Amino acid sequence: MKIAIGSDHAGYFLKEKIKDFLVQEGHEVIDVGCDSHVSVDYPEYGVKAVKKLLSGEVERVIVICGTGIGMSIVANRFKGVRAALCLEPFSAKMARLHNDANVLVLGGRIVADGIAKEVVKTFLETPFEGGRHQRRIELIEKLTS
Ligand code: RB5
Repeated sequence: MKIAIGSDHAGYFLKEKIKDFLVQEGHEVIDVGCDSHVSVDYPEYGVKAVKKLLSGEVERVIVICGTGIGMSIVANRFKGVRAALCLEPFSAKMARLHNDANVLVLGGRIVADGIAKEVVKTFLETPFEGGRHQRRIELIEKLTS
């Protein structure tokens, strides 16, 4: 799968680990930065990553900041984006099954590397269930536009 990944300084170290993990798992990764742990502004990198999804360049996005909250707020400003902050695998599974989430958000200062990898694997491998959940997703667009 083609995946864009981005982070601020607080998510940088986890981003690097997740990037290696994705490549090991056979995915193609576009890294939009940042490139070190030196302080930057998370909206810059959240927007860059989400734009790769909106342009159709990638199928999924992973964005990481300290808590995951800032990146969630940024990503969910875009129409058609369903960003889910998942700190454990069950949330990642449900975000795909019920919400057809297309952006995974992680908190680099919260989630340990091993759990983050499980979250990522679950997010990428779980399909959308459709049915009544499709109707609900359509309602989000209808009721908020
Ligand atoms: C950076 O210090 C921190 O505020 C940021 O990574 C993020 O957690 C914001 O929501």
